[in-house]
Amino acid sequence: MMFNMIEFIEKKRDGGSHSKSEFQEFIRGVMDGSVPDYQTAAWLMAAFLNGLDDEELSCFTELLAASGERYSFPDDIRIVDKHSTGGVGDKTTLVVLPLAAACGAVVSKLSGRGLGFSGGTVDKLESIPGMRMQLEAGEFLSQIRNIGCAISGHSKELAPAEGKFYRLRDVTGTVPKVQLIAASIVSKKLVGGACGYVFDVKCGSGAFMNDRESAGELAAALVSLSKRFGRKSVALITDMEEPLGEWVGNAAEVYEAIEVLKGGGPADTRELCVALCAQMLAISGHAKDEDEGAAIASAALDDGRALKKFAELIKAQGGATEILERPLDILPRAQKSFALKSEREGVVSKLDARAIGEALRALGGGRMKVDDRIDYAAAIRLRAKTGDKVRAGDAVVELFYNDDNKLADAMKHLSGCWEIAEKARPRKLILGRIS
Ligand code: URA
Repeated sequence: MMFNMIEFIEKKRDGGSHSKSEFQEFIRGVMDGSVPDYQTAAWLMAAFLNGLDDEELSCFTELLAASGERYSFPDDIRIVDKHSTGGVGDKTTLVVLPLAAACGAVVSKLSGRGLGFSGGTVDKLESIPGMRMQLEAGEFLSQIRNIGCAISGHSKELAPAEGKFYRLRDVTGTVPKVQLIAASIVSKKLVGGACGYVFDVKCGSGAFMNDRESAGELAAALVSLSKRFGRKSVALITDMEEPLGEWVGNAAEVYEAIEVLKGGGPADTRELCVALCAQMLAISGHAKDEDEGAAIASAALDDGRALKKFAELIKAQGGATEILERPLDILPRAQKSFALKSEREGVVSKLDARAIGEALRALGGGRMKVDDRIDYAAAIRLRAKTGDKVRAGDAVVELFYNDDNKLADAMKHLSGCWEIAEKARPRKLILGRIS
């Protein structure tokens, strides 16, 4: 029988379940253009409202992954991957990738560009002069063999159906649905070829999941979907109510990552990097459990092994390794700065991650349109964070920028982005773990 797209949409609209062969026909039609975008969008809304059962979710994920090329690695290479659901100031991949490799794990990473107000690892690393972020499959594999880690942007050949669904979800109000996000993420992990994944599920104003309950649901969905494909995984649920670390912005986050790799940097960035690396070492068998993993990871940050591995990674991908000794001379820096000051004395009780992310985007550090050029130097420094004491006149947020018009746009996002009170509720960075 011919595949009937109208009946397919109606079935989901009325709460029915699709068979594997129906999904195959649907995805084939989406890819060859015989299913127009308006019908795919209608199905997405039906799936958003009525959900997918476990069988459907596995089927849909597998078909998204199978829609293009896949990396596969010889059996002797057991790769572990780390994925963040996206946040503001989240530079953990820059640290964790060389850190886990320095501790013996083999790590491959396919990363994305910034999306909306949240930053992307590809943009951050591209702020390093010369750094190549589109590696051919052969180069990716030989780099992993040589130095134990590689990172590349997603190519159009990998899970192209996922890319198509993602673009439609972005413009049809169908992004924040746990099952659709899980299918999107896990399909991309499957094509990356790793055997185990560590998910960092962000929770708060600067994340797709704003509350603990929905972040927990997404974490559970990612772990159980990975399991259905025979992959080991663990998810940390982490705070994204305020940005991570001290710096937000592409080149500035590379700078902060280098500080952490040198054994310094802000305490929260280091804590999360160590925690994520600990999970990677535990699931890949390089530590007996997360506590041992954390001890191994901390030692590799403090004794310079992680920094050395980062130098190898940058060199292998054509980047300027001088940034490690002279980051402030080599990384792009903005010409102007402007500080926003506290009007009164007290303790910072809120610092809104979403507002900071939007402000950075307005400064030119992110994109309004897909093909916008990024200003890698645009940055925001958080001079005080939740729990810090400030006096009247102290800088809380400092903006670094090149274009005065953009400063005005950024300022619109920042009014009310922090609060000062008598005291602040202590924030916890790691809110939960699901395995
Ligand atoms: N990140 C993804 O890769 N996909 C989503 O759907 C949301 C966040």
